[in-house]
Amino acid sequence: MFFAKKKDNNEPIKVPKHIAIIMDGNGRWAKNRGLPRSFGHSAGAKKFKEIARYCNKIGVEYLTVYAFSTENWRRPKEEVDGIMDLLRDYLKDSTNFKDENVKLRFVGDRTGLSDDIVALMEKAERDSDCANGMTAVLAVNYGGRHELLHVMKQLAKDGVKPEDITEDAVNERLYTAAYPDPDLIIRPSGEYRLSNFLTWQSAYSEFWFTPVLWPDFSKKDLDTAIKAYNRRQRRFGGV
Ligand code: FPP
Repeated sequence: MFFAKKKDNNEPIKVPKHIAIIMDGNGRWAKNRGLPRSFGHSAGAKKFKEIARYCNKIGVEYLTVYAFSTENWRRPKEEVDGIMDLLRDYLKDSTNFKDENVKLRFVGDRTGLSDDIVALMEKAERDSDCANGMTAVLAVNYGGRHELLHVMKQLAKDGVKPEDITEDAVNERLYTAAYPDPDLIIRPSGEYRLSNFLTWQSAYSEFWFTPVLWPDFSKKDLDTAIKAYNRRQRRFGGV
């Protein structure tokens, strides 16, 4: 398996504990084929299943994917509905995560989502609670700035005094409170930006970019990203 492979200097390759992916390029992938954008999202959802299975197999502990941002509501209603339908289909078929021994979790503002999707999310969380494989975190109606506003409001509601506003106080109130910060953030499709993804949590993440569009992203691309990650020296501000 991948993690048994060696680097050039014969050291074993370290699999990042937490990988986060911006699943970008679905629209262009469909356009290149003369297909409606919805086909791209559908291929993107399929790719998520494939890559999640692979991450679980090679020992990634947390995989967070950007499935729908707080800004994605600006897209045509038909496209938004299509993405929500893909999410519904995925959540309704519990074999997607149960058979994989994957613990499914969600980050983002659930108040903006339709009741049936929230109910499906809660059921998926319950159904996958005993899984002891990878934790797959789907960011749905998620925005980094939105999340930080949520934290600020929560600090005010909790009556936290300015001197008690510490990094821990913020971490505890993030949607991602239960998960470690991402070690490696992957963005396909040739774009070099974070697009409001894990704004606070990415402070010391390593980034890996590729021109490959998300539906074309392969296990081999993930291996390449992990190998690149292994060549990075993480100093977290130290020397
Ligand atoms: C960005 O590509 C992708 C999205 C906004 C949606 C991603 C959603 C999925 C892959 C499906 C979610 C469902 C599951 C089950 C995970 P884009 O449309 O912005 O691509 P473009 O830049 O080429 O237009």
